[in-house]
Amino acid sequence: MGVSIRVSSISTIVVLAAGLGTRMRSNLPKVMHPVCGVPLLSHVLAAADAVEAGRRVVVLGHGHDLVRPILPDGWEVCLQEQQRGTGDALLSAVAFIDDGPVLVLSGDTPLVTGELFRSLVEAHAASAVDATVLVMRPADPSGYGRVLSGSDGLIDRIVEHRDATPEERRVPEVNAGMYVLPGAESLEILRGVGSDNDQGELYLTDVVAGLRSRGRRVGAVLLDDPDAALGVNSRVDLAQVQALMRARICRDWMLAGVTVEDPDSTHIDATVRLEADVTLLPFCCLRGSTSVGRGSVIGPSATLIDTVVGEECHVRHSYTEGAVLARGVKVGPFSYLRPAARLEDGAKAGAFVEIKKSTIGAGSKVPHLSYIGDATIGVGTNIGAGNITANYDGREKHPTVIGDNVKTGADTVFVAPVTLGDDVTVGAGSIITKDVPAGALGIARCRQKNVLGYAGRRAGDASGEDDGD
Ligand code: UD1
Ligand code: CA
Repeated sequence: MGVSIRVSSISTIVVLAAGLGTRMRSNLPKVMHPVCGVPLLSHVLAAADAVEAGRRVVVLGHGHDLVRPILPDGWEVCLQEQQRGTGDALLSAVAFIDDGPVLVLSGDTPLVTGELFRSLVEAHAASAVDATVLVMRPADPSGYGRVLSGSDGLIDRIVEHRDATPEERRVPEVNAGMYVLPGAESLEILRGVGSDNDQGELYLTDVVAGLRSRGRRVGAVLLDDPDAALGVNSRVDLAQVQALMRARICRDWMLAGVTVEDPDSTHIDATVRLEADVTLLPFCCLRGSTSVGRGSVIGPSATLIDTVVGEECHVRHSYTEGAVLARGVKVGPFSYLRPAARLEDGAKAGAFVEIKKSTIGAGSKVPHLSYIGDATIGVGTNIGAGNITANYDGREKHPTVIGDNVKTGADTVFVAPVTLGDDVTVGAGSIITKDVPAGALGIARCRQKNVLGYAGRRAGDASGEDDGD
């Protein structure tokens, strides 16, 4: 109980996210680069929700107009006009900081979790120190600031990799870039710190030596998982972090009852929702707001973007975006479902089928080689192979309405707008330009003519014609 009271004693959470991200070589602000479908910064902010605080502020600068829209409610923005370093970034948040402890986080460490932040804050509250630095021992410490400790186990100072001597670079403990600092005092120290370093920047890490010289105690919390606070500075780091998060997401879903046959080739965005007893076969990519219901099998080789899949469906070798599949729907192999494609219970989109902004009624099937756009198809209808809704006249899109229990022959073209009633049959090869009433046969093709003895006639022996049918 005592601990939780102290945990909530963080006055302000400050997330540093104004940096140019020069090493990304990108027009997009670094913190906007997605990892498993979600911007770097959003992962950090979501984790920071686990810590209670008086105020929450994100320091923005480079591309701030692009970043603002992704900030959840409760986060305030402070602008760092010029990116003069992490110390300057904290200074720019002066209006949000009081005497109390500040939790300072980096916006470029997407693998962090709420648990990690809580344990940092709890460790700080439980020890008699004035500041706490989160420390890690990554496999490759290069690029990180080295944490130099005294014989008392407290931290003396942090030296950036590029400013460190060869001996200092051998220190395996690095600064994870997350701290609990005394608010007002840290700002006071930063105001007196110079930028006499390799980058000519104002370093937040210099607060540590500043606190020590004032007789303050700076403690460390060592992360047991060396990957948990990896920072993203380049696209190489981005790929490394993405691989780790992808593995974490697959593992979490497996523990929640999802079979992932080949986690190495399975990409699931952090935003995707899956029910137990879903099976993901190799080479699947589930993106955005996609959700999959119990008992469904996805893959092999399926990409689902913002797609809602109900229970007991099977989607093989297909690409779907913005589609809705009800229960027991079969898709693929090689189908392309586009936004507002809706397949009702037991419907099927088979091989080489493209469906856009159309409803395929319960039990209806579009089994082979068809394009269905702006169409409404009733229940129990079978669309023949190679059917096309000619929905576009070059200016506007027009609807095709097909009733229940309709059978259309192969190679039918529906020239929209056009309506077929219930129980209609359409002859193969028809170009349907007029409505077909319920129960009728619609047939619209040239009569066949057979020229008998044609082979002989070519040899100069014409022997007559047969009108055929
Ligand atoms: C920083 C630390 C380093 C630590 C590492 C951990 C300093 C000087 N160094 O280095 O000790 O090991 O993080 O990941 O702090 N930012 C601003 N304004 C600025 C500059 C940066 O808001 O003017 C933000 C960035 O957007 C980023 C964060 O601060 O989210 C860290 O900056 P970055 O340049 O990535 O620092 P590192 O070189 O990684
Ligand atoms: Ca960084």
